[in-house]
Amino acid sequence: MEKIRLGYIGCGFMAQKVHIPNFTGTPDCELLALAEVRTELGAKVQKRFGIPRLYAHHHELAQDADIEAVAVSADFALQGEIAKDLLLAGKHVFMEKPMAVSLAQAEAIVDASRTAGKKLMVGYMKRYDAGNEIVKEKVTQFRESGELGRLTYARNHGFGGDWVCNLDTQMDSTEEPKPSAPIITPEWLPEQYRRPYLGYLQQYTHNINLMRWLLDAGDDVSITAVDLDANGYAGVVLFNMGGIRVTLETGHVSHYRWDEHSQIYFENGWVHTWAPPLLLKNTPAEVEIYRAGEEQELTRPIPRPAWTWAYRREAEYFVANVRSDEPFRSSAEDTLTDVRLFEEIYRIFVAQQGIGAVARTL
Ligand SMILES: NC(=O)c1ccc[n+]([C@@H]2O[C@H](COP(=O)([O-])OP(=O)(O)OC[C@H]3O[C@@H](n4cnc5c(N)ncnc54)[C@H](O)[C@@H]3O)[C@@H](O)[C@H]2O)c1
Repeated sequence: MEKIRLGYIGCGFMAQKVHIPNFTGTPDCELLALAEVRTELGAKVQKRFGIPRLYAHHHELAQDADIEAVAVSADFALQGEIAKDLLLAGKHVFMEKPMAVSLAQAEAIVDASRTAGKKLMVGYMKRYDAGNEIVKEKVTQFRESGELGRLTYARNHGFGGDWVCNLDTQMDSTEEPKPSAPIITPEWLPEQYRRPYLGYLQQYTHNINLMRWLLDAGDDVSITAVDLDANGYAGVVLFNMGGIRVTLETGHVSHYRWDEHSQIYFENGWVHTWAPPLLLKNTPAEVEIYRAGEEQELTRPIPRPAWTWAYRREAEYFVANVRSDEPFRSSAEDTLTDVRLFEEIYRIFVAQQGIGAVARTL
């Protein structure tokens, strides 16, 4: 296959620690150009990775006709706007999550992808984790065969911890200030809820996106109940995902590792998975399958190859699938649902806070 000629926009933390090393290490990819508004930083990173071309803005890179596809990581409200510009300039795009911070922004980005006829993949690396692929395969197989009875319930617990895991990839720095990012949030959201909304969305978009995929729920998802602390972060949200009751438990724990697991229950067993800390390289999710019955059994399937990193597999997947006519596993269209759900959760949360505030003044 002729190599994918890639451009990269924004060489901050995720680019230097994760994506640029992964794309440059993928044999079918040639990283041809970098765009970075912090020009001194751009020059350092260009030199370290031996990237042939350097541009001072994504608009300049967008004009480079030799570039077929682009990867973007920037501020979470800004990166969707950059992705939109690149799609309209005729490039396929890989971008970090979240795609957008409001449904209106998300729809404009998906429209740009359709209008331009170019594909957009969003970086939900958990969908490319080799352990999660086993979970998805087993859950689908058990639902089809009925081997463990009916699927009754699912939960995702995400209290976080240390996600960087001492990842020691070299990082170039600069004194140049970061560019200001647009303040984009849903129009109806009162200003005092903007920061908590972005904090909650930024973290838990991964978890909702993963559960929808594992349960094959697509856009058939609604919110049944929201019970969050006044900080708009810690608590429980209850969903109906394709007819399955699902809980999302959110919060913090001072933890040196990473406290996140998902469990999918059937009448006669479960599939349980523990997520690795995000930047811990070459460590897929752990998987446990429990079968009840006369002879009870716990098994722990291990992916083959055994030690892989979700972000590396995500980069390889993008390169391998960007020219195909099939949608990406984590497509822009699919993540519209995640963006919708966060607005719905916060609409309910904000309304509850209003009721609380009125009650306190009575
Ligand atoms: N998938 C994950 O697990 C995960 C983990 C952490 C962060 N993220 C996401 O990654 C994204 C990036 O985070 P980060 O910490 O790397 O950001 P960052 O601020 O460190 O890097 C962004 C870079 O983009 C540059 N930039 C901004 N506008 C530009 C433009 N128009 N043209 C060229 N360069 C431009 C900035 O100067 C900066 O260097 C965030 O949106 C975040 O949500 C994802």
